[in-house]
Amino acid sequence: MNNDASERRFSVQVHPAGWRYPASASQSLLSAALQAAIRLPSSCRNGTCRACMCRLVSGNVAYRIEWPGLSAEEKAEGFILPCVAQPLSDLVLQLPVSES
Ligand code: FES
Repeated sequence: MNNDASERRFSVQVHPAGWRYPASASQSLLSAALQAAIRLPSSCRNGTCRACMCRLVSGNVAYRIEWPGLSAEEKAEGFILPCVAQPLSDLVLQLPVSES
């Protein structure tokens, strides 16, 4: 049994595509998706360009950088940046409708 918190694994669901992939607590949601051969929108991968921005429908994330490129308002509305967000629980993400 492994109780190391960084090795905890969570399930990430992506709507509206219906994808589901595993992510460990030590990994960004974007890199975990890529590992599962799921291509989420991205560009800079360091929390500044906002290309990856999506909405967190349920669950909790932590950021690996102090202030990701989101306004307080956007954060309050549930937007996250998967390239720098790491899971703290099982998650449900909502991609922008324009994504296919
Ligand atoms: S890929 Fe640029 S902010 Fe996430």
